[in-house]
Amino acid sequence: MFEDLLEGWDGEEAVIRYDADSGAWMFVCIHSTALGPGGGGTRLRVYPTAADGLADAMRLSGAMTRKFAAADIPRGGAKAVLAVPELPQGDERRKLLLRYGELVASLGGTYRTAGDMNISPADLDIVAERCPWVYGTTGRGGNSARGTAIGTLHAIRATVEHVFGSPDLAGKRILVQGAGAVGADLVRLLQADGAEVLVSDVDESRAATTGATVVPAADVIGAECDLYAPCAVGGTLSAETIPRLRCRAVAGCANNQLAEPADGDRLHQAGILYAPDYVANAGGVIQLVGLEDLGWSESELMDGLARIGDTLRTLFRTASEQGITPAAAAEQLAATRVAAAQAQSGR
Ligand code: NAI
Repeated sequence: MFEDLLEGWDGEEAVIRYDADSGAWMFVCIHSTALGPGGGGTRLRVYPTAADGLADAMRLSGAMTRKFAAADIPRGGAKAVLAVPELPQGDERRKLLLRYGELVASLGGTYRTAGDMNISPADLDIVAERCPWVYGTTGRGGNSARGTAIGTLHAIRATVEHVFGSPDLAGKRILVQGAGAVGADLVRLLQADGAEVLVSDVDESRAATTGATVVPAADVIGAECDLYAPCAVGGTLSAETIPRLRCRAVAGCANNQLAEPADGDRLHQAGILYAPDYVANAGGVIQLVGLEDLGWSESELMDGLARIGDTLRTLFRTASEQGITPAAAAEQLAATRVAAAQAQSGR
């Protein structure tokens, strides 16, 4: 299984280690270093098989290449997966993270890690005891949800501008799905901009604490609004849901919003403007790399996050001019930047 996956992959390097003490598989997939050292989070999960973990790391590492390239941040795409028999706790967890830190350190900085599913800043502190290439520890860079929320706000303003002719959110009805770390912050920012905010969460008490009008989780897709912001889980835009959407545009922070690539075309045919997810949600990585690696000040960070809006404006314009979807325009932009860097380095 591993052989088949690796032979069919377009990435540069995959490091695979079996951790006999815990029964965990460690997969570090470096998809591209054309634009810089590979950056991307570590996902800790139980998978049906080890090969599913490797496949996830491969797929996610490619998405990181596109995310950094579209954001014009000098980092390549990578991702790591710790595929465990069960989520470890206490001393077992600490020891696993230390051994994982040693593995990442051994790669000499070609891969730089951060948090992802089930990996907290406190976990990253442990990884950092053995490895210098760790973003998002408790002491550095801060919680990436802040940058993600501000970046998503810029994405929403640019999307509203393309549809309605002005980025002004006053009176615009915006539905935020997911009132978690990013979503709750986003609701607050949208309210400060004068938007009429609707919010939904499977945990209704979370939605209620935002102070916005709560929509039951099951009613999100058919709810009438100007813009739908998926900020919870992936795959909410599909052949089944798109015909039921009652909005003019979609822009949110959730990863992998399209159930399949053809959903970008379905949205376009339905007359709904889509801000590609990895462009809209790049604020988290912009914050971590900007503050921790590039030495940005707070005002440089705010400028970097605002560029998400500029990128989207360019993508929407390119898409209109070329008669393609914004998702296709984003793929094109990322691929062009990676190819130019490869040509420059002679690789
Ligand atoms: P979180 O785990 O803090 O919040 C997610 C929220 O969504 C929770 O309140 C949960 O109850 C709710 N939820 C889950 N399923 C739902 C459903 N079907 N309908 C409505 N609500 C539902 O996660 P966080 O950090 O706010 O991230 C949200 C999304 O953004 C995720 O898809 C994540 O991968 C993505 N993302 C987050 C970044 C970050 O910096 N935190 C960066 C880039 C993407």
